[in-house]
Amino acid sequence: MEPGQILLSCLLVLSLSLVEISTDSSLNSTQESRAGKLISMFQIVKFKNEACAAGGVRNGTCYTGDECKTRGGSSAGSCAGGYGVCCAFTLSCGATTVENCTYLVETGSASTISPCKYTVCPCSRDICRIRFDFMTFNIKGPVTGTAISDPAMTAATTEGGAIGDCTTDTFTITAPGNFAPPLICGFNSGQHMIVDASPDKCNEANFGLVGGGTRNWDIKVTQYACGDEQGGPDGCLQYFTGTTGTVASFNFPTTASILEPSTTHLSNQQQSMCWRQETNTCAICWIPEILGTDQITGSFGISTTAGGNKARGETDGKCQGDYLLIPDAQSDVATEDADTFVVGSIGSDVRLSDRVCGRQLSSANDNGDRRMSLSVCTQQRPFRMTFKTDADEVTLTSTSAAPNSAASNELSRIPGGIVGFNLRWTLQACS
Ligand SMILES: *[C@@H]1O[C@H](CO)[C@@H](O)[C@H](O)[C@H]1NC(C)=O
Ligand SMILES: *[C@@H]1O[C@H](CO)[C@@H](O)[C@H](O)[C@H]1NC(C)=O
Ligand SMILES: *[C@@H]1O[C@H](CO)[C@@H](O)[C@H](O)[C@H]1NC(C)=O
Repeated sequence: MEPGQILLSCLLVLSLSLVEISTDSSLNSTQESRAGKLISMFQIVKFKNEACAAGGVRNGTCYTGDECKTRGGSSAGSCAGGYGVCCAFTLSCGATTVENCTYLVETGSASTISPCKYTVCPCSRDICRIRFDFMTFNIKGPVTGTAISDPAMTAATTEGGAIGDCTTDTFTITAPGNFAPPLICGFNSGQHMIVDASPDKCNEANFGLVGGGTRNWDIKVTQYACGDEQGGPDGCLQYFTGTTGTVASFNFPTTASILEPSTTHLSNQQQSMCWRQETNTCAICWIPEILGTDQITGSFGISTTAGGNKARGETDGKCQGDYLLIPDAQSDVATEDADTFVVGSIGSDVRLSDRVCGRQLSSANDNGDRRMSLSVCTQQRPFRMTFKTDADEVTLTSTSAAPNSAASNELSRIPGGIVGFNLRWTLQACS
C-alpha cells in the first residue's frame, strides 16, 4: 500500500455527486430558456461518508455508487436521502483494506482457509486506534486441563507447561512500532481488541489453523481518528463504556451457564482493560459473573492458593505467575454485593492490594473471608485492570509428587486455578 493511496481513502469527508441535466440541441427557444433556469440551479449534492445500515448487523459507509465500485465495496441499499449507496466492505483472506468499517468474514474448512492473513491499513494519516470486534470467533482452543476435587488426585497431570498453550490454531494482530496484542485461540465471540496504529504502517490479522474441521469468524474493523474518544486511550487493548457490563479472559466460555472444570485460560497473556469514567462515578467493582463455591467452578480461577487444601483468594506476593493487576484493590466483607460499595469508605477487614489471584476473587484480610468470591473494587482512576499470565500452569512435577494440594497444583481442588475470569463490572457513583 502506497502512503499516497492511504492518504486518499478517508480524508475525503465529502462525496460530490452532480445531478446532470441533458441539453438537447433540437430544443426551441422556449425549451432552451427553461433548461437554462434548470442549469442555473445545477445541483452539487454533498454528504458525509458516514456509517449506514447495510442490512442485518452490518454497517457500511455512505458513498456515491461510483465511489463504492471504485473502492471495491458492494452496494447494500441507499443512504444520504437516496444520493448515496450504503457501501459494505467484506475482506477475504489475503486481501488488504484501507476502508473504515470493514468486515473480516470466513466460514469453512480449516485446510482450505489456512493460513489466512488480512492487511488493515490506516484510512488516513490521522488514525491512532484500530478496533477489531469479534462478532463471531470460533477456532480451535488451547491444551486444556481438568481440575478435580479429590485430594488424592488420581488424574494428576504433569502437563502444566502445555496447559493454556494454543498448539493448534492461533490468531495474532501485528502492531508495528506499538505493543502487539497477545496471541489467542479458541472461543472469543463478543470479545474485542484495539491496537495502536502508526501512519504509513499496516496491521496484519493472521489466522493459523491446523487440522480438519470448520472454523468461522466475523470481525468488524473500525478505525478511529487521533483524539476520537471512542477509540479508547493509547495502549488499552480493551475499552469499555457505560456503567455495567462483563469482561472476560480470552477463550472464556462466556455463553455457558455452568462451567466445566476444564475451563482453561490462555498462556502468555497481557490483556490491558480500560474503562471510561462516566459522569459522577468514582470507583469500579468486579465480581464473578458466576459465583464459584467449594466444589463448583465459578467464573474466576487464576493460579495456586497458598492455603493448601482450601481453595481461596490470594493477593500481592502470593500472585506471581498469573494474576489480575488492580491498583489499590479492596474488598470489604460487609459489601459482598458489587452494587453496595461505598466510595470513600475503607471498611473492616480490608487489605489494599495491587494483585489478585487464586480460586476465589477476594482481597479480604481474613483467610476465612477469602473462601468465597467478594466484590473487588478500586477507587484508583483511570479505571484499569491488566490480566497477566506466564507460559505455564503449576501442576505436579511427577505424578507421584506429594503433597498434592491447591498450593502445589492448579488442578487440585475446584474451582481450579486454570479457569481465567468472567467478571461483571459496575461503576460506582461518587458519594
Ligand atoms: C417549442 O416547443 C414546445 C413543445 O414542443 C411547443 O409547445 C412550443 O410551441 C414551441 N415554441 C416555438 C416557438 O416553436
Ligand atoms: C451502524 O450505523 C448506524 C447508522 O445507520 C449507527 O446508528 C450505528 O451505531 C452503527 N453501528 C455500529 C456498530 O457502528
Ligand atoms: C469510522 O466509523 C465509525 C462508525 O462506524 C466512526 O465513529 C469513526 O469516526 C469512523 N472513523 C473515521 C476515521 O472516519
